[in-house]
Amino acid sequence: MNPVLIARQLTRHYRVPRGLLRPAATLQALNGVSFELAAGQTLAVVGESGCGKSTLARALTLIEEPSAGSLQIAGREAAGADRAALKALRRDVQMVFQNPYASLNPRRKIGDQLAEPLLINTDLSRAERHRRVLAMLQQVGLRPEHYRRYPHMFSGGQRQRIAIARAMMLHPKVLVADEPTSALDVSIQAQVLNLFMDLQEEFATAYVFISHNLAVVRQIADRLLVMYLGRAMETGPAERIYQRPLHPYTQALLAATPRLHGEPQRERVRLAGEPPNPLAPPAGCVFHPRCPYATERCRGDVPPLREVDGREVACHYAERFV
Ligand SMILES: Nc1ncnc2c1ncn2[C@@H]1O[C@H](COP(=O)(O)OP(=O)(O)OP(=O)(O)O)[C@@H](O)[C@H]1O
Ligand code: SF4
Ligand SMILES: [Mg+2]
Repeated sequence: MNPVLIARQLTRHYRVPRGLLRPAATLQALNGVSFELAAGQTLAVVGESGCGKSTLARALTLIEEPSAGSLQIAGREAAGADRAALKALRRDVQMVFQNPYASLNPRRKIGDQLAEPLLINTDLSRAERHRRVLAMLQQVGLRPEHYRRYPHMFSGGQRQRIAIARAMMLHPKVLVADEPTSALDVSIQAQVLNLFMDLQEEFATAYVFISHNLAVVRQIADRLLVMYLGRAMETGPAERIYQRPLHPYTQALLAATPRLHGEPQRERVRLAGEPPNPLAPPAGCVFHPRCPYATERCRGDVPPLREVDGREVACHYAERFV
């Protein structure tokens, strides 16, 4: 495997100013996340609200600088890079957001918005830019006459296709999609997922695909990263984890999704309550207050991420479910 994206111990802290009843504090939104991703592969990142998915997305797309750790994009280090280097790197990582309304300019024609990345980053002629925009419109399932229309003239699903087209205009090596289908009707979600997969086949783009729903990303994920409170709980080959999740948190997330025919009955772990306050993470295993298997050891010792049965798991007792 020749990875196009390598994250090592990627970390992002936020300073939270003093409030009425609490002192200033540091919130660890992303706490030492590592992975490698090859061209043409998809890493699905899943976890409940607040676990740090969007923080990871902002670090990967160089919108925010990591507080610590390293990030290599196509072999070049991004952490600590100067402005010129960052500008060059940004061409290679593009982002698709949850809400396509927010990412499109309501006052500009679609075609002009798609041409813009070419105008800024290449010296292609006007005619060639036009040609490439028309080709991309077709590739995402839109028609040439859409070139002259404005965002409000499209449905939510079409608008997301336009946002995807724009992100793909420069053929980035990495595309980070943050909940790109969760604002869409269920009937449209599958079409947009299929579009992502078709484009990946065509351009061999590496995807980081973020979702709070394990079922949604199953057909697209090659690798999986299950996050909780800014940390990796379980990560590795997606199908292996779907078939036999070893971390109680992954089991709980999966128990909430429908089973495929022929799959073994899963351990039933119910997820009670909410994730803890990130300003005061629990000692030991951060999942212990909600874990049905927690022991005294879990309350004191942090379980390191370690290899068990072909993936990495942060649980003292991961072997129990192999
Ligand atoms: N700019 C910021 N300043 C302070 N705290 C932040 C900031 N951005 C995010 N956080 C906190 O960092 C943690 C992770 O947030 P993040 O948005 O990455 O989660 P998420 O997994 O994307 O959640 P969701 O599923 O709701 O989108 C949360 O506790 C959040 O409140
Ligand atoms: S280390 Fe303990 S608390 Fe954490 S997931 Fe494993 S069994 Fe549960
Ligand atoms: Mg988010």
